Amino acid sequence: MSFSKDFLWGTATAAYQIEGASDKDGKGPSVWDAFSKQVGKIRNCDIGDIACNHYELYEEDLELMKNLGFSSYRFSVSWPRILSEGTGKINEKGLEFYDRLIESMLKKGIEPFLSVFHWDYPYELYKKGGWLNPESSDWFAEYAGILSERFSDRVKYWVTMNEPQCFLGLGHYTGSHAPGLKLSDAEYLSALKNTQLAHGKAVMAIRENAKSQIQVGIAPTGRVGIPQNETKENIKAAYDWMFAVDQQDFFTVSMYLDPIILGKYPDDMKKEYGSSFISPTAEEFAIMKQPLDFLGFNIYHGPEIQEDGSVCIYSSEIPRTATNWPITPKALYWGPKFLCDRYKLSFIITENGMANLDMVNEQGMVEDPQRNLFLQSYLKEYEKLVDEGYPIKGYYCWSFCDNFEWAEGFAKRFGLVYVDYKTQKRIPKSSAYWFSDYIKQNKGE
Ligand code: BG6
Repeated sequence: MSFSKDFLWGTATAAYQIEGASDKDGKGPSVWDAFSKQVGKIRNCDIGDIACNHYELYEEDLELMKNLGFSSYRFSVSWPRILSEGTGKINEKGLEFYDRLIESMLKKGIEPFLSVFHWDYPYELYKKGGWLNPESSDWFAEYAGILSERFSDRVKYWVTMNEPQCFLGLGHYTGSHAPGLKLSDAEYLSALKNTQLAHGKAVMAIRENAKSQIQVGIAPTGRVGIPQNETKENIKAAYDWMFAVDQQDFFTVSMYLDPIILGKYPDDMKKEYGSSFISPTAEEFAIMKQPLDFLGFNIYHGPEIQEDGSVCIYSSEIPRTATNWPITPKALYWGPKFLCDRYKLSFIITENGMANLDMVNEQGMVEDPQRNLFLQSYLKEYEKLVDEGYPIKGYYCWSFCDNFEWAEGFAKRFGLVYVDYKTQKRIPKSSAYWFSDYIKQNKGE
């Protein structure tokens, strides 16, 4: 078994989920600041105003990462911290925070991996129509260009956006995430097109402003099909299910990724969305489809698919996480494999992990053997792809520490490091040490 020497081993977080300092040093509001203050939107009325106070405690967090041997850190930049109104006047203090963060990572030997956008959309731009505004792709490119101009001398790895499926699907279709919209199919597809144009323009802006050899990708998610039996026919059925467009399920993969990697929408878009689907022009596809250096993907679970293409019901024996997500390690084999086969790019798991019922024991420690088992079983599947010669370049566990889990508030703990939100004390869980040992043992020579 052979992970390469430069394999990226790390943990991931997102600005709104950990930073706190929601209105400090010139930061403007985001749609999440506004949404989480509306009664009934977030479990237990939690809000992310303070979260893990990473804005103040980042040194301590990075020191923990260093001591645990996590060689890379995937973090996101808060758009309204850099541009309080989303465009126009740059907030120097916002840039300075990320300068400090990046400098500290580099001093500690941690490779920065930057997500340009992880859902905290500037509220001022939302008021102008947000992703529905035809100018939204230019706003995003302006922001991405500013980040590249400032940080690309030190940051090598970039992803434009995290999980469009979620910030569009949950944020603009079911309304369970910020900004809480329930758009029609036609409006939804128009917002989707604008994010795909935004991705393409951002890739260009990042490259145009780059000060060193950088690598650019994206970090989406999507449904992952696991063949119930490993026959040729069943494998094909699982692949076809994974990349099928399904109007009932916005976690489809192809509708988000085909345009930006293959330069076209999948053929079944028209069938699924009927007259709500209006194909972009050839010029628009040319903007969306920019060469990428890698594909990131967030994978947590996936169902088994039968040979006839039908989805197997999960048996009640399948263990589930604290968010009730089924534990299906094979998703970390079949998901990346199918994605590499279809898109032919280097591949990085940009998120994988679980929420657990973590508690501090009398000795002040947090024992979470379930998470060790989870990681072990998923990584075992992932390793197989390395052995089979797939271009697997990294793995980021979600998450570095417990944090504000969006609509779940602080109720669900995904971290390798426990956070006591009252005192902001950090306690590495036993899984943090397990992951640390795993990295040590599997670091390529
Ligand atoms: C991913 C997101 O969807 O899953 C993370 O990129 C998120 O930001 C994680 O925290 C866990 O999901 P949730 O909805 O339980 O917070």
